[in-house]
Amino acid sequence: MKNIAVIGTGYVGLVSGVCFSEAGNHVICCDIDQGKINDLKRGIIPIFEPGLNQLIDKNVARNRLCFTSDIPKAIQRAEVIIIAVGTPMSRTGEADLTHVKQVAKTIGKHLNGYKIIVNKSTVPVGTGKMVKNLISEISRDQYAFDVVSNPEFLREGVAVKDTMQMERAVIGATSAKAMEVMVQLHKPFTTKVVKTTIESAEMIKYAANAFLATKISFMNDIANICERAGADVTKVSEGIGLDSRIGQKFLQAGVGFGGSCFPKDTAALLHIAESFGYDFKLIKAVMETNIGQRVQIIKKVESILGSLEGKSISILGLAFKPNTNDMRYAPALDIIPQLNHLGANVKTFDPIAIPEAKKQLGYICSYSDDLYETIRGTDACVILTGWKEIKSLDLEKTKRLMNHPFVIDGRNLFDLTMMQNLGFTYVSVGRPV
Ligand code: UGA
Repeated sequence: MKNIAVIGTGYVGLVSGVCFSEAGNHVICCDIDQGKINDLKRGIIPIFEPGLNQLIDKNVARNRLCFTSDIPKAIQRAEVIIIAVGTPMSRTGEADLTHVKQVAKTIGKHLNGYKIIVNKSTVPVGTGKMVKNLISEISRDQYAFDVVSNPEFLREGVAVKDTMQMERAVIGATSAKAMEVMVQLHKPFTTKVVKTTIESAEMIKYAANAFLATKISFMNDIANICERAGADVTKVSEGIGLDSRIGQKFLQAGVGFGGSCFPKDTAALLHIAESFGYDFKLIKAVMETNIGQRVQIIKKVESILGSLEGKSISILGLAFKPNTNDMRYAPALDIIPQLNHLGANVKTFDPIAIPEAKKQLGYICSYSDDLYETIRGTDACVILTGWKEIKSLDLEKTKRLMNHPFVIDGRNLFDLTMMQNLGFTYVSVGRPV
């Protein structure tokens, strides 16, 4: 059992901290945002994540988990300090390391003995060294410490499961002592451990996300060819995915990837490559295809409705994927303003992301958590998120409520023949119309 301080209570920090407490450690989750900490203390969780509430309640009750904004005190009590602050995309596409640097300085200032400092934030190669240098400088080398890279691979919506049953842990360290502590910390997760250097661990995180993003853009390009060739991309995915060298996951064509990771990490990797004088053409194409998928949806709506001036369009799903209220880089953020710009009246549905969506889109569209009220009286319906409510849509009722039975499906949720038999004009991604 270790005393752990986790700095940053975003997705990664909160979920990792809670899971390390569940694994038997004493964890203090810290944040400079006093409001967030007050909420957490009162049991209000800032993110929607299945299973997280229960684990928080359980471990707070066991006195294994607590929350504080007193970061210096948390640093001084901890044996292991996990940095899990955001590294947002800067205007140039690079990862913005402001928060990581700030935390490193705070650690340097309050260091009071040997500690292991673990970097969980997604950071460019070389950041581990930079963090080490900053802490050394600020602490004037009064105490020994080790820096470790331990990237996170959890997915939003299944974050607790992805952590408690992680497929692998990647640990980058130069010190044998720190490596051993990190290996022991991961024992309860009974997972495979990849032991490596800090630089390789930092690279693994970007390479993993960029590879997954590449799979998606590859299938979206194949989908665009399928549309021209009269082939069905879902069958192509099935047909290639059964080859174990390819694998069945992340081959779903659609409206493109969003979220806080793939768009940011592909852009950051491009920058990392450029900083080493390498032109990473493949990742540029991945990013370009991804933006193109959003444009395709608008073109499909126009191909059915003609001019969008005065037309009423329902958007089903705002979040970048189901089971999250996260709107970061969600396709809806590009598609809705564009439809609005083309003169359409846009009505939107989402079960939980409306408050987040409103912050970004304001009042250029209307919002409802009632699916059928959203669909009622619209000229076309556009599906952007594969929520279970949308998958189990009553299609007969949908058809009755709409002005025209036009469905543009960015997530390939429905069977083509069934939609045809029901009398819909159904345009999906990479499948025959
Ligand atoms: C992603 C990675 O999957 C995690 O392993 C990683 O830890 C995380 O980023 C991160 O770096 O923090 P996440 O952004 O939560 O996780 O979402 P995913 O489930 O990976 O989906 C990303 C996007 O790809 C979504 O917009 C989704 O709709 C899209 N997608 C996914 C497709 O379009 N097709 C697919 O076949 C799969």
